Amino acid sequence: MAFLRLYLGLWACGLGLLVPGWAVAQSPQARASANVDLVARLQEVTDSPRLTEQSLKLGRSVAAVCANCHGEGGNSLKPDIPNLAGQNPSYLLEQIRKFSIGMRRNEFMEGMIKALTADEKIGMVVFYSSQKVNVNTSKAAPALMAAGKKIYTEICWRCHALDGRGNEKIARIAGQQVPYLMSTIKRYRSGAGRIDPLMMANTRTLTDADVEAVANYISRME
Ligand code: HEC
Ligand code: HEC
Repeated sequence: MAFLRLYLGLWACGLGLLVPGWAVAQSPQARASANVDLVARLQEVTDSPRLTEQSLKLGRSVAAVCANCHGEGGNSLKPDIPNLAGQNPSYLLEQIRKFSIGMRRNEFMEGMIKALTADEKIGMVVFYSSQKVNVNTSKAAPALMAAGKKIYTEICWRCHALDGRGNEKIARIAGQQVPYLMSTIKRYRSGAGRIDPLMMANTRTLTDADVEAVANYISRME
């Protein structure tokens, strides 16, 4: 936790831009735990009520460091930052992996992930996946929603499910904010900073207007 706060503090002072991420960010524990098999560890934790309770507690304290951006309980307050509440555990682990190896680029988050120990990573996954998502009740133009629904029910539902909640392997997308969804979908389409063959193949034919429509539809799913 000390390293996590140090990392956040340096960024807050603007120093994060001057110092190579790993030099300030990676605690000895985080370095030692870089090789822990997180998928196996998560399974071990979820199989044991005692470990789940401990992990949840640690995750809640980690989440206090993330709250400025991802919101209390993982409902983001900023339009370009994703909700973590209700997110599927294996998707969260996969994003940790992608930030760690540069398949997903975001300078701040790449450093933040390096500053977390294996137990803190598992803790935040256990904590956020158990939190409730706030529903987006704002209204959008009916024509936009209809266009979005058409795309969703032609392409996206096959993996993300009709309710947008995905499954234990696929991301929940229901309820994410429109600006985050739009930039994310466009990044997959071009491969700019988010590499995923399935998402690239399934966004390839979308125009910018399609992206806006489907993002508005997804954002209002519960
Ligand atoms: C300074 C703001 C900030 C803080 C603090 C922050 N994040 Fe992030 N986080 C972001 C942004 C911005 C993104 C989106 C990056 C992108 O678009 O690739 C993100 C993305 C993520 C994602 C991917 C979610 C998804 O839906 O794909 C995870 C997981 C995550 N953050 C976890 C954390 C954790 C855990 C902490 C605290 C230890 C934390 N973040 C602290 C800004 C922040
Ligand atoms: C063949 C399966 C498949 C289809 C179809 C599909 N997706 Fe995905 N989607 C995925 C996978 C797998 C991921 C996680 C990729 C990664 O690791 O970055 C993902 C991730 C996403 C994310 C990122 C979530 C986050 O929190 O950052 C968004 C947004 C998304 N998909 C939207 C869509 C939309 C919109 C469509 C329809 C146009 C669609 N997907 C169709 C498999 C699919």
